[in-house]
Amino acid sequence: MPLISVIGSGRVGTSTALQIAMRELGDIVLVDIIPGLPQGEALDLNHTCAILDLDVDVKGSNDYRDIAGSDIVVVTAGLTRKPDMTRLDLLLKNSEIIKDVSRHIREHAPKSKVIVVTNPLDVMTYVAYKTTGFESNRVMGFSGLLDIGRFRHLIHSRLGVSYKSIRSMVLGEHGDSMVLLPSHTYIGVEKLTSFMDEKTIAETVEATRKAGAEIIKLKGWSAHHAPGAGVSVMVSAIIKDMKAVIPTSALLDGHYGEKDVYAVVPCVLGANGVEKIIEIGLSDEELKKFKESIKVLKSAIEQVKLDKI
Ligand code: LAC
Repeated sequence: MPLISVIGSGRVGTSTALQIAMRELGDIVLVDIIPGLPQGEALDLNHTCAILDLDVDVKGSNDYRDIAGSDIVVVTAGLTRKPDMTRLDLLLKNSEIIKDVSRHIREHAPKSKVIVVTNPLDVMTYVAYKTTGFESNRVMGFSGLLDIGRFRHLIHSRLGVSYKSIRSMVLGEHGDSMVLLPSHTYIGVEKLTSFMDEKTIAETVEATRKAGAEIIKLKGWSAHHAPGAGVSVMVSAIIKDMKAVIPTSALLDGHYGEKDVYAVVPCVLGANGVEKIIEIGLSDEELKKFKESIKVLKSAIEQVKLDKI
């Protein structure tokens, strides 16, 4: 049975563990620094498994030694932005947390693949890559499935077509500068542009960009069900060696003419993690937006570097 560790037992960590259990992808170790929290969550999840006949064991722990032997470590630990916090505050505080978690992963699960979920996503993934010292194919960030999930939801509700027939792609930062790609969005075998006018597409893209903030405003905290679902899709692709094309934050090393930066791009995920980065044809406008997004990410990385990785 594969072993999947989830660092952080907050809403995102526990939703992720639940989705992994629901799909029987492996046994799960939940780690958190708060005494009792991961143990209590693990008990609750084990009862869930018993009720649903899911043959998965969940262990809660405050000790990183329990992640030994993990095939995949999902990192959800970190703070979410409080009203009095700037993005830079969050960047620096979470970067310290990710560095600490990454050192433990390097020590106790040196062969694992790492999926980072903590925000600001792409920069935290870069920090995990640098601190673990793992090959870049083994360190990746989750967010692309969330953003295209939101886009696909809006298309589904506006056009009344099945999710199964809507395919899409997103590039760049998981944040305000994300580049959704209506030109690479298909309803069945036809482009979205045959079904929606330019103005409606622009509104749909904008609503997608704001969906995360909308959830926070409505319910008072960040999305966690959809992130949990999305992470389980990535875990499944790796555990089952699917070679599935999934938008993933990956290290660009000459791809799209960029280097030394993590950004969302279409990736082939399989047993070796990010097995390939796909370079898709972009219009001049899309490429310009993507380059702007990369600029945002590089300047955030510089801020973290000033603080020493
Ligand atoms: C979201 C944030 C929390 O998109 O990343 O929901």
